[in-house]
Amino acid sequence: MKKMIFVLLAIGLNAQQQPLPYSHKTHLALGLKCSSCHKNADPGEAMGLPGENFCMSCHQSVKTDSPHIQKLAAAAREKQPIPWDRVYKLPNFVYFSHRVHTKAGATCESCHGPVRERDVITKEVAHTMLACMACHTERKAKNECTTCHEEK
Ligand code: HEC
Ligand code: HEC
Ligand code: HEC
Ligand code: HEC
Ligand code: HEC
Repeated sequence: MKKMIFVLLAIGLNAQQQPLPYSHKTHLALGLKCSSCHKNADPGEAMGLPGENFCMSCHQSVKTDSPHIQKLAAAAREKQPIPWDRVYKLPNFVYFSHRVHTKAGATCESCHGPVRERDVITKEVAHTMLACMACHTERKAKNECTTCHEEK
């Protein structure tokens, strides 16, 4: 009984966090790559989130009886993007580019943790100013205030 309440609570919390119970663990186990869904379009700052049409390339036929997939299908049909709750988000006064970092060899995992083992993404790696600056010191990258606090 206790266990069941815990499970219900956990499902409740997950449902609250994201509009759909999308799992990275499930989807990466299918052999998809990060770049299948996160494109890093020019000029390269954002990784971006996948469009619902891409999801529907499978879900046209996979799990169509699920109410979640029906919600996804409706979003694709009505061109209403799923309002994902953003997990990692810097304040507007900080400049950050994914492309600069991936080109410098930083892995997704170093800044976002073991995503492929996660059902739910949480902010498990801190993106504080101190954390950014510590890696810059270690990697001998620029560390002036204006490196991160100026529009480029
Ligand atoms: C099938 C598509 C798909 C694949 C493949 C995928 N993702 Fe995602 N990713 C999503 C969706 C949808 C979200 C938004 C929902 C969420 O946060 O779970 C997301 C969210 C994220 C977020 C949180 C972004 C934020 O700030 O809200 C990170 C970080 C992330 N993905 C990293 C990765 C990494 C690293 C990989 C490869 C190991 C990967 N993803 C592979 C679809 C995908
Ligand atoms: C050096 C650290 C770092 C690395 C490496 C990194 N990220 Fe991020 N990621 C961030 C930060 C910081 C944000 C928040 C950016 C913002 O709000 O401007 C973010 C945001 C995101 C988002 C949300 C959408 C967006 O573009 O803001 C996704 C998805 C994501 N990262 C996926 C990835 C994937 C996939 C990789 C590997 C290819 C990766 N990240 C590598 C630090 C990193
Ligand atoms: C490569 C094919 C493929 C792609 C692309 C894909 N999925 Fe899936 N998805 C699956 C499979 C397979 C399952 C597991 C079905 C099962 O549990 O039997 C699944 C399960 C799910 C579930 C759980 C459904 C439930 O009720 O159990 C959700 C939610 C989901 N996917 C959302 C998404 C979203 C959102 C995207 C796009 C970002 C996406 N999927 C892209 C194949 C895919
Ligand atoms: C994993 C280590 C690492 C982390 C964590 C990291 N950086 Fe970096 N960053 C680098 C490296 C290495 C470079 C230098 C890349 C080059 O010069 O090609 C760099 C370059 C930059 C640049 C471009 C500087 C220039 O040359 O103009 C900015 C801006 C930046 N980082 C912001 C951030 C912010 C903001 C964070 C925290 C959210 C962060 N970085 C976290 C390693 C990191
Ligand atoms: C490598 C990137 C980087 C560098 C270099 C950097 N910052 Fe930041 N700064 C950040 C990030 C990321 C945040 C937002 C996250 C946080 O508050 O920790 C931030 C937040 C701030 C804030 C807001 C703090 C708050 O509590 O809201 C101030 C003020 C600030 N920085 C000033 C500076 C000054 C002054 C310097 C130079 C001595 C500097 N920063 C250098 C990345 C950087």
